[in-house]
This record gives sequence, structure tokens and C-alpha cells, in this order.
Amino acid sequence: MNVSSTFKLNNGNEIPVIALGSWDSRGDEAYQACLDALSAGYRHIDTAAYYENESLVGAAVRDCEIPREEIFVTSKMWYEDMVEGKQEAAFEKTLKELGLEYVDMYLLHWPINDVKGSWKVLEKYYEQGLIKNIGVSNFRPKHLKQLEVTANIAPAVDQIEICPFLVQEETVNYCQEHDIVVEAWGPLGKGKQLSEPEIVAIAKKYNKTPAQIILRWHLQRGIVSLPKSVHKERIIQNADIFDFELSKEDMQIMMSMDLRESTGRGYPEQYEY
Ligand code: A2P
Repeated sequence: MNVSSTFKLNNGNEIPVIALGSWDSRGDEAYQACLDALSAGYRHIDTAAYYENESLVGAAVRDCEIPREEIFVTSKMWYEDMVEGKQEAAFEKTLKELGLEYVDMYLLHWPINDVKGSWKVLEKYYEQGLIKNIGVSNFRPKHLKQLEVTANIAPAVDQIEICPFLVQEETVNYCQEHDIVVEAWGPLGKGKQLSEPEIVAIAKKYNKTPAQIILRWHLQRGIVSLPKSVHKERIIQNADIFDFELSKEDMQIMMSMDLRESTGRGYPEQYEY
């Protein structure tokens, strides 16, 4: 395996196991980070309308001289656009900002507002080939079960916050039992977990960095991770996780760090747990 290796989605398509995350990446830095990631072998970049950097991601994808079909670009519909009359415009704006003819994955960003109607819009663009794969983000099993009732096409992925302080066993198990690939946002706990003594100790043992240990833990759980960095050496480091394997015991140590606590950015008020 390497950074461009893939997991299979429930529609037969493939998704690269590591993406460059881009939340909070801005301006030249965001553009350069995408170019650095693509030249380091990444073939998957994650953005969202909400991040206000789709145009920079799109520009890097267009400028990098790698054939478009080899790159997997994900974006997301913001929940305020998940209301009747706004959904189509939101998707069309994303395509325009990206400057691409299609997007590889498009997600409903949060299970808020008109999930059912928004999903129908995603299904329509999927059938038209403008979105190659459709999925959701921040959905718990309860939200997935509600969606299943009216969906014609099952979500290919669920992108949720996961790190060693928030291992999300219930949602991960539900998704994996239902053939939905799980993606981890904030996979490094926003960088806050890199000095945790347990992780530092494991890192020493494998002669790897704490970030590499955490990203390897995601990989061995069968989870796509989206580490965000705007620093070239970290972008390269985060992709160098394919030459070692964590033991069952070390995987377990990291599972037992679960505090069921978001290290995150605050969930929208309307989010129903
Ligand atoms: P930066 O972008 O300045 O490199 P997450 O992916 O969990 O959201 O974490 C992202 C945070 O972790 C960012 O602040 C990023 O900083 C930092 N980060 C990413 N990769 C590494 C790394 N290999 N070592 C240390 N910090 C990292």
C-alpha cells in the first residue's frame, strides 16, 4: 500500500485512503499545500463550500499536470444550503469555484435542514455524472437510518470526526456493517494529541512520529483519514505510514484513550445528537 492506495466503495468505485484536509487552509498556503500533496503522491483532496477555498483546491488540481481522472476531489454542501430552492445553486457554485467538470465525491455536510430533499438533489447529479460518488458527513447511525428510508442510492461514505479521544466505535461499526466507508476529519485531533504520552511512547517504539502513529491507527481501522497541513514536510510525513504495522496491543491502547470528546470546532447548534 501507499498514499494513493484505495478502499472500495459500495458502488464499485475506489477512494484513496489518505486525503489532504483543507479546513482552515487559506490563500497561497492552501494552493501550495495541494500542489505539495499532489507531488508527494496524494491523490485525494478534501474541501467544502464552507471552507471558502474550493477555488484554490480546484486551481491546484488544474495546474498540477496530473491527469484529472487520477485525482479524487471531495466537496460538501453546507447545511444552510440544504433547503428547498438552494441545493442546486449550492452544487453549481461548488463546481464553478472548483473550475472542474465533475466532483469525485460530494457530501451533505451536516444532518440538518432538508436532508431528504438534499439527498435527492445529490442523486440527480450523481445520475448525470456530475458527481461520481455521493455521501454524508457527521451522520450518526440514527441519521443514516432516517436517510435509508427515502434514499434510492446509499451513501458511499460518512465523514465524521475521529481521533484517539473520539474513537466513534458505534458509528464506525454501523457504517462498516452497512458497507459505508468511514472518513475521519480532524484525524490528528487538530494536532492536540501529538504530545499525548501514550502516543509518544508508541511512536518511539516504531521510530515514527506521533502523527504517523495516529494516521496508521486510522488506516488499520479501515478508515480514510484527512490530515490537514500547510507545511510540506508534514504533508510528506503524513503520507509515510505504509512501512510499518501497529500491533493489536498498540491499536487497543489507542482505542482505550477514548474520552468521547470532540476536540473540534464546535458542532452547529441545530445538530441533534
Ligand atoms: P499545520 O497546518 O500548521 O501543519 P487535523 O488534521 O486533525 O485537523 O490536524 C491539523 C493540525 O495538525 C493542524 O494544526 C496542522 O498544522 C497540524 N499537523 C498536521 N500534520 C502534522 C504533523 N505531522 N506534525 C505536527 N502537526 C501536524
